[in-house]
Amino acid sequence: MSEGPCLDQRVEELVAVQSFEPPAAFREKARVADASLYEKADQDRLAFWAEQARELDWDTPFSTVLDDSRAPFYRWFEDGRLNASYNCLDRHVAAGLGDRVAYHWRGEEGEERAITYSGLLHEVQKFANALKDLGVRKGDVVGIYLPMVPEAAVAMLACARIGAVHNVVFGGFSAEAVRERMAVSRAKVLVTADRARRKGRAAEVKGALDAALDELADLRHVVVVRVGGGGAGAGRGEPCPMRTRRDVYYDDVLASAADTCPAEPMEAEHPLFILYSSGSTGKPKGIVHSTGGYLTGVSYTHRVVFDLDAERDVFWCTADVGWITGHSYAVYGPLANGTTSVMFEGAPDYPDPGIWWEIVERYGVSIFYTAPTAIRACMRWGSEYPAGHDLSSLRLLGSVGEPINPKAWVWYHTVIGRERCPIVDTWWQTETGSIMIAPLPGATATRPGSATHPLPGVCANLVDGSGRTVPEGTGLLVLTEPWPSMLRTLYGEEERYVEAYFSEFGPGTYAVGDSARRDTDGYYWVLGRVDDVLNVSGHRLSSGEVESAIVAHEKVAEAAVVSEPDELTGEAIVAFVTLRGGAEGGPETEADIREHVSARIGKLARPSRIIWPTNCRRPGAARSCAGCSGTPCRIANWATSRH
Ligand code: PRX
Repeated sequence: MSEGPCLDQRVEELVAVQSFEPPAAFREKARVADASLYEKADQDRLAFWAEQARELDWDTPFSTVLDDSRAPFYRWFEDGRLNASYNCLDRHVAAGLGDRVAYHWRGEEGEERAITYSGLLHEVQKFANALKDLGVRKGDVVGIYLPMVPEAAVAMLACARIGAVHNVVFGGFSAEAVRERMAVSRAKVLVTADRARRKGRAAEVKGALDAALDELADLRHVVVVRVGGGGAGAGRGEPCPMRTRRDVYYDDVLASAADTCPAEPMEAEHPLFILYSSGSTGKPKGIVHSTGGYLTGVSYTHRVVFDLDAERDVFWCTADVGWITGHSYAVYGPLANGTTSVMFEGAPDYPDPGIWWEIVERYGVSIFYTAPTAIRACMRWGSEYPAGHDLSSLRLLGSVGEPINPKAWVWYHTVIGRERCPIVDTWWQTETGSIMIAPLPGATATRPGSATHPLPGVCANLVDGSGRTVPEGTGLLVLTEPWPSMLRTLYGEEERYVEAYFSEFGPGTYAVGDSARRDTDGYYWVLGRVDDVLNVSGHRLSSGEVESAIVAHEKVAEAAVVSEPDELTGEAIVAFVTLRGGAEGGPETEADIREHVSARIGKLARPSRIIWPTNCRRPGAARSCAGCSGTPCRIANWATSRH
């Protein structure tokens, strides 16, 4: 009989437990098992960061650690030079680790590829040369819009090798979102795929982009990775439409490229990438990260938060490379530390909800990092799926992207971690580049739902609206000192950078945009956004962006978007929509609007439900209507609607 039901019973018993000490067996072997790292960072924060930076290989060592003379435009390790791709690849190969697996890649139909560090270095050099052959130079922007295939990491590292700035767009975003992000960053080249596979079907990618890409004056080439049809779904084997002169196949350009491409030393402050993320207005923010500071932050946090033993661990961060979590903990952090990672192309429930646990068993995953939404989905599918696999290789579990509810935390701890594995709940943002608040798993007692304390080197506080410290209770989360992996600016929008992050409390204090509670023991409990940013399944979306997409629908007069709590996705989008000419909404229009939002932004931005305030004719229903199920409506000119 499956042990699933016994595990579920144990979850019920443990929900009442408030605090979990690091398991003794874990603590004994942990990298950090006491407060010494905090003490060291407190004694001399800049010296501490310099020491972390020196774990990397520098072509020119830096002599200054932080230049804050133009705050909030901070500069770290400014006179140093290094190359991110060299640090992720060449130095490990030079140290004799060329045969170590960098990625166990698993395709959704069960295909496997083991890519070693020397294999990855070879392909990255070739693709870096291919990019050069296509005219890409240092400082040029290269877009990447790919599913979870190894070529995504190759393309990122190839850019880093020659100083091109990558701009990855999540594969779930629409053609319109790709166009917008390529247009504003003036990308010269876009690397994409012929198709993307999802749950046994194959969807056209490049073909679906063509109309949008044709509008981009700066885009010179589109490189197409042949992912192929796979599965039994539509699209298998169909040729991909190619625009002459503009479009080239990845394998063709690779075949004709030279084998060696030396990594070019970059100034520490040279931008490594831009990643667009939602802000509180409709327009996404182009978050810019540096080379030296970013790599310092991700490699340091990857080592200490995940208690990394690069010789033994197999690390799996389930995030897509299209998000910051994928950049920092599926690519740069693990590779900088010479780690073996798993990369999985597919969905967590295809071919069935046991697939993640089958993968953990197959590759001996020891550190597993995912989002609360995924954990809640696994809970819903049932404990029998993980219970059916040998998960004894796991020794540490991580969570990221949204607050984790205690029930999901305890389920993760019991059913996946079998009470053996500490959980690191990691709080951070696209802007912070790397983890900011999290336990050190061998040293920190954890509390379900709390990301615990700021990491050594990170200075956080809770303040009220006028910037005064809130010693205990709820306040606004701020970061009070700069840190190496912080964003440097918003691409092409310096004023917006200052305005968005440093205007509320002055140039020395970074306004996070989250509220949090601090308990009597100094534990931080991040509660959620205080601005108009929504968090659906750990994915960040702006209500303004969704509203603009809805209003762009020909039938729509006005729209307001709020979120409501959702058991599975954390927050779900609810849209209040009035139609032109006072028309009444119904299921057909609702489906139409959802499809429209999907086409403009992506499926993840579709409202879970639409409320039509104008359908409500109840006398006196001034603030809510039957359709609103009691939720107060936020439409600005409410009085003019037919309530
Ligand atoms: O509200 C916080 C939430 O996600 C926001 C950042 O989103 P994004 O830039 O997309 O980065 C997500 C992955 C790092 C934060 O402002 N958030 C992230 N991690 C946590 C969290 N909320 C609570 N607990 C977390 N561990």
